[in-house]
Amino acid sequence: MAIKDVKELEEQYQLATYKKMPIVAERGEGVWVFTSDGERYLDLYGGHAVAGTGHCHPHVVSAIKKQADELLFYSNLVYSEARAKAAQKLISIAPDILTKAFFCNSGTEANENAMRMARMATGRENVITFSGGFHGRTADAISATFLGKYREIGKPNVPGHLQAEFGDIDSVRGLADESVAAIMLEPIQSMAGVKMAELSFYPALRELCDERDIVLIYDEVQTGVGRTGEWFFAGSAAGDGAVPDIISLAKALGSGIPVGACLVTEKIASHIKENDLGTTFGGGMIAMAAVTATLEAIEEDAMLANVCAVEAYLRERLQEIEQVVKVRGRGFLLGLEFADKAKPVHEALLEKRIITGTSSDPNVLRLLPPLCLTEADADVFVDGLAEVTRN
Ligand SMILES: Cc1ncc(COP(=O)(O)O)c(C=O)c1O
Repeated sequence: MAIKDVKELEEQYQLATYKKMPIVAERGEGVWVFTSDGERYLDLYGGHAVAGTGHCHPHVVSAIKKQADELLFYSNLVYSEARAKAAQKLISIAPDILTKAFFCNSGTEANENAMRMARMATGRENVITFSGGFHGRTADAISATFLGKYREIGKPNVPGHLQAEFGDIDSVRGLADESVAAIMLEPIQSMAGVKMAELSFYPALRELCDERDIVLIYDEVQTGVGRTGEWFFAGSAAGDGAVPDIISLAKALGSGIPVGACLVTEKIASHIKENDLGTTFGGGMIAMAAVTATLEAIEEDAMLANVCAVEAYLRERLQEIEQVVKVRGRGFLLGLEFADKAKPVHEALLEKRIITGTSSDPNVLRLLPPLCLTEADADVFVDGLAEVTRN
């Protein structure tokens, strides 16, 4: 089909809820996306932070195909080897205190279930989240989102959501009374423009939660599954080793097959009984095969080490670009802060067939590339950036 026809059909039959790039994505391979007009794009947005293993990683594709031939789906009403292996693998790479997984289908659903578990475990209702945090678009998750217009779109909001200032432990202390079930945060706020708190903030939150019996939830929908160069932000050096009671995951977890998960401590698990949580599709076989293969691919291709090495290289090379005043974030969740608006740079890069992301901070360009991005790919990006920012 001609690009024009695809565009017209989508516009006629699909709600226009996203501003789309003017390309028709047809095929993907690693860090590259091939479009219907025969062009090749370097994807530094990683298919919306989903293609952690790169587009169509052969190990993941073959696991999905094999599973599809055997059984597409059966719910949690039956046991499944695919599910057993995925849960075991995921728990094996998580911080030691996180011992059980709950599978669902998306990031927003993972966060809703995380908050629900915290309420069940504590018998309390309120949840503290942070200015600039994004947690999803279903009712409870959007009510926990104090960023831009989201809470407004989600009206009427679910009650019991309190807003603290990201990075300001005193603002959390002031709110964290005996009504509070959970404190939930994106440890690196992605959509807000890739913002991190001071290192001391993360262990201070952990201490506060321990002191007041509050459940600490890390929304690792973006930071999880290797993106920061460690499996999770939880327990990583970037967060001073602090480990929450619950991690929520989605995005890169299934390399493109929709899947979300909550990883929880034994203590949280002890409060959850049969039928307290559920979802038809959570833990389905295709998704589970994708999860196991995704984690195996990251391991087998040594992608965590690659993220650390290529991040360092990229940061070094970005010093050549005068207009980039700061590089925020960790690993392959990077925010390039410009002195001026980032959108024209994003658009000019797209014309050079380089896909990047914007953020709610107009001066920040976001990079969320596949974890297999090489130094040579980074060169393509920085050389392109040098050209588009040259006056
Ligand atoms: C940090 C974070 N949490 C939650 C979500 C919601 O995930 P989903 O779109 O899979 O519902 C997102 C999506 O962008 C996210 O970035």
